[in-house]
Amino acid sequence: MNASPPRYPNAALIGGQWVTGPDTFPVIDPATGAEVGRVPDLGAAETKTAIDAAEAALPAWSKKTAKERAQILKRWFDLVTADTEHLAQLMTAEQGKPLAEARGEVAYGASFIEWFAEEGKRAYGRTIPTTAAGKRYITIKQPIGVVAAIAPWNFPIAMITRKVAPALAAGCTVVVKPAEDTPLCAIAIAKLALDAGVPPGVFNVITTANAPAVGKVLCEDSRVRKLSFTGSTEVGKALYRQCASNVKKLTLELGGNAPLLVFDDANLEQAVAGAMASKYRNAGQTCVCANRILVQSGIYDRFAEALAAEVKKLKVGPGRDAGVVIGPLINADAAKKVDGLVRDAVGKGAKVIVGGSPAAAGPLFYQPSVVTGVTPDMTIVHEEIFGPVAALIRFETDEEAIRIANDTPFGLAAYLFSQNLGRAWSVAEALDAGMVGVNEGLFSNETVPFGGVKESGLGREGAAEGLDEYLETKFICLGGIAS
Ligand code: SIN
Repeated sequence: MNASPPRYPNAALIGGQWVTGPDTFPVIDPATGAEVGRVPDLGAAETKTAIDAAEAALPAWSKKTAKERAQILKRWFDLVTADTEHLAQLMTAEQGKPLAEARGEVAYGASFIEWFAEEGKRAYGRTIPTTAAGKRYITIKQPIGVVAAIAPWNFPIAMITRKVAPALAAGCTVVVKPAEDTPLCAIAIAKLALDAGVPPGVFNVITTANAPAVGKVLCEDSRVRKLSFTGSTEVGKALYRQCASNVKKLTLELGGNAPLLVFDDANLEQAVAGAMASKYRNAGQTCVCANRILVQSGIYDRFAEALAAEVKKLKVGPGRDAGVVIGPLINADAAKKVDGLVRDAVGKGAKVIVGGSPAAAGPLFYQPSVVTGVTPDMTIVHEEIFGPVAALIRFETDEEAIRIANDTPFGLAAYLFSQNLGRAWSVAEALDAGMVGVNEGLFSNETVPFGGVKESGLGREGAAEGLDEYLETKFICLGGIAS
């Protein structure tokens, strides 16, 4: 397969023009180490030019009606959907996820385009009952302006469309900086947007191997009125500080340390299925993957045994091979980190009951693993694993489970399994998390608000909340009205 089909250029996009070189950097297939393409290594100057282009395109795009923008977005959705197979192949080549999962991500990514095309038509203001005769109060919603979007590598299409589709639907223009590991999907998505009729300058893509230099310009240029970032809490905090200089509006989707609670009264089969879905999706490389699996004493051994039996069935290998469900990790640092966390836990008394080592498929593959007897002194409890390792912690009471679950600076996702509705409700309320799955390990979709509390971030993506992130509310006071 040609990993970068000819219809998608290996180029950045500025003002509707494809920009190549002069410097480039390689995009590597994590399954094989082979180069799948080279893209331009752009810097501060090109980023400024992209902001110029986005600023120039803003008046015309923002003045289009929501319905006109929706028609273009729907064409974009159709083109993405029609090219699912190529996009999925491209994603597997640069990111590593199994083809079936990549196809699922193309559909997930496209769903944001379709949904926000419609939701853009519902950017309603309000009329507010007056407090004074002769005055009337109205609010209107207006596009915030030029938007910067910094996207991660773990969902190379969906995390871009989850930002760009609402921004475009709201009437904003965007400069996207895709992750260095996965720029090819971003370029493909942008090309399809152009083909659908998104005007030049409305959607710009800056590829770079120097993220800090590009990020600094995106944060510090006061013409950019909004930054949406998905990535680590460490980088998110640095961007937050840089955006303070011009009080830019921010959406930050940062790290997680999701607890998954299994109570004695859980349906065992449901709890195991939920843990499998949450933990092993994308080889454990999602911000909402269960990071700490807290299991009550009465069900602990049965749960561990049933989970281990399922994990043993997971086939590891290159994402393009039939039947594979666990692909490679994204790079050598990630593989080293996962193994280090397992070694640390084992050194402190945890027991590996499945896996526990790098896999034979290649240097970036890790065996799907289950580790029991995990305790708070182990690093695996405090750091985001971002790999296919389930860490099981034993608890006795509801209070203890909630205390352990909330004992983290993060608060993105949480999960709980119980057949007792009252317990499920009160624990869901008590968990410090932006999203809670009750008897469910997979909940992300375009219609619901995705985001975290505490150091997991600011704002929400998807749903009506996701459109609001790209809008300003303007209050208009109409005076001189005859009463
Ligand atoms: C993420 O890992 O940041 C996104 C996961 C999702 O959309 O479910």
